[in-house]
Amino acid sequence: MKFATYKPQVTEILANESLSVDDRMTKVCELLQENFEYYDWVGFYFKNGDKPELKLRAFAGEPTDHTIIPFGKGICGQVAVSNENFLVPDVKAQDNYISCSIYVKAEIVIPLFLNGENIGQIDIDSHTVDPFTKEDEEFLEFINAKVAEILS
Ligand code: SME
Repeated sequence: MKFATYKPQVTEILANESLSVDDRMTKVCELLQENFEYYDWVGFYFKNGDKPELKLRAFAGEPTDHTIIPFGKGICGQVAVSNENFLVPDVKAQDNYISCSIYVKAEIVIPLFLNGENIGQIDIDSHTVDPFTKEDEEFLEFINAKVAEILS
């Protein structure tokens, strides 16, 4: 199974203390974006200090204008307040959606918890309609838990 194959690589990258935490997160984004054909943009957003907004901290794929996202806005901002995984099979069906690229058809956002608090999220955009499954959710939850370990 592809996800099981990549878990050890994610763990190894995140454990590499010769790199900064931000560089390790960027490398995980690159690993996912390069090896999963329907992961076209991969990024980590985190709560921006005490402000009710998310700030982009690491990504792979085309640069985005949306480096700051207010809580409640878009798919990312909704997950910042709902604390729930959000799978969007077709972004055109969403009213509260922030478009980063005309090619994006679907999106998945999984919250990242540290000591039970929702402090950030992994966000993946896809150019494929309805590509994400329960297996993606579980894989991304695993990655977020591993990232939380190096943030604590
Ligand atoms: N589409 C997201 C915005 C972030 S970009 O996908 C990189 C949203 O609706 O929150």
